[in-house]
Amino acid sequence: MKTIAQDSDDNAGDKGRREFLRLAAGTLALAAFPSKVLGANQRVRIGLIGAGDRGMQDLKDAIALPDVQCVAVADVYSQHRDQVKNLAPAAETYDDPQRLLARNDIDAVIIALPLHLHAKYFFDSLAAGKDVYCEKTMTWDIPEAVQCLHAAQNSKQVVQIGLQHESSGELADARKWYEAGMLGKVTMVESWMSRNTPHGHGQWYRTIPADCNPQHVNWDLFLVNRPKTAFDANQFINWRLFWEFSGGNVTENMVHQIAWIMTAMNLPVPEAAEMMGGIYSEKDGRQVPDTIAVTFEFPNYLTVLWQSTFSNSRYGLGERFLGSDGTVEHISGATDMVTGKYRGGISYYPEKSNRADGTATTGSSAGQNHMANWVECIRTRNQKTNAPVEIGYKSAVAAHMANLAYRQKRRITLQEAMAAKPEY
Ligand SMILES: NC(=O)c1ccc[n+]([C@@H]2O[C@H](COP(=O)([O-])OP(=O)(O)OC[C@H]3O[C@@H](n4cnc5c(N)ncnc54)[C@H](O)[C@@H]3O)[C@@H](O)[C@H]2O)c1
Repeated sequence: MKTIAQDSDDNAGDKGRREFLRLAAGTLALAAFPSKVLGANQRVRIGLIGAGDRGMQDLKDAIALPDVQCVAVADVYSQHRDQVKNLAPAAETYDDPQRLLARNDIDAVIIALPLHLHAKYFFDSLAAGKDVYCEKTMTWDIPEAVQCLHAAQNSKQVVQIGLQHESSGELADARKWYEAGMLGKVTMVESWMSRNTPHGHGQWYRTIPADCNPQHVNWDLFLVNRPKTAFDANQFINWRLFWEFSGGNVTENMVHQIAWIMTAMNLPVPEAAEMMGGIYSEKDGRQVPDTIAVTFEFPNYLTVLWQSTFSNSRYGLGERFLGSDGTVEHISGATDMVTGKYRGGISYYPEKSNRADGTATTGSSAGQNHMANWVECIRTRNQKTNAPVEIGYKSAVAAHMANLAYRQKRRITLQEAMAAKPEY
């Protein structure tokens, strides 16, 4: 039988996708590849797949931990292979991640690739017996999310999704207050995320480096699961702006917050989603919207709102859980209306009509280091990570439901979303 590793040279597009899904089903047995059991103080040898902005940060976080060593890095862009030498001079570098995955002296990999490549290498890494830290959003679409969920659940590998706010102290506080019944019946959660940029410079837009050309980039590997096209430096560097490689701000940022809300209230996937908005801030050729309003319907009479703009940053980001007995407000990076000073943190406020004796309080739980939590789980192998595949799956489904609603300009139910054929 052909392995997933050999699949990387196949034609892309629909054929590549069909092949991925077919092999996903047939490779669950491979995904259960027995992994080496490390002792509590044993060295964890990692590889990094994707040494761009986030990959470099993840690598720094990982090698700052005791007894974690980076032995290999794979990236299709020579400049990014070179820059990693400053952090991990002894690491072997490759352009093709399959060469890294073929090494049997690597315990675990960090996947920090453009979104369209997450599922492919998530799956290949499990099949190669590696523990996985995969950046959010877990996958580019819902069918891939289903396949990755099943593959991870049928493997012995330790999976952490790069939803680092799942390890935050504020989430522990929100969860504790919710589970203690201090909010009563929560019928609505409002959430928002806002940013700004100088006029003429769209959010996320990156200047194309002079050496970004086919001599320095393995473009065919960037398109490994997409139709082959002529080299396009803008798509390669600014992949976030294009549907073929990205899910826009819903998969870049909403996913963190919807995962957080789902974990705080132990929610399932939404029953339905709507999303409106468009490209209002800067017309720079991007396809994904910069101004967004999402509405989710969850079971048991709960509406969750998320709104986002790239033309105003005053209110930073946050969530407000509105309950019959109390409110939880979590704010990050907002500025106070009067003083202009930074506002942040998490607070609880009782609703006097139903909790007359309740008192307002602020959160104090300590957060955990998300990368350290993954490494600890790799060593002990007997506990779940803080952001396991299940929250990766639920948050990916929610994000893709919102994008489907936007692109189809209508309300999308969960059943419709699960049956939808993904489009670039
Ligand atoms: N958790 C967070 O808070 C957070 C923050 C930022 C980004 N991210 C996520 O991290 C991921 C990467 O984002 P980024 O900003 O670092 O992107 P980036 O473009 O800077 O980096 C991606 C890297 O992947 C490389 N690459 C592309 N195709 C490849 C292939 N087939 N094999 C090997 N390497 C390949 C590119 O050369 C590049 O170095 C995204 O999914 C993003 O959503 C997460």
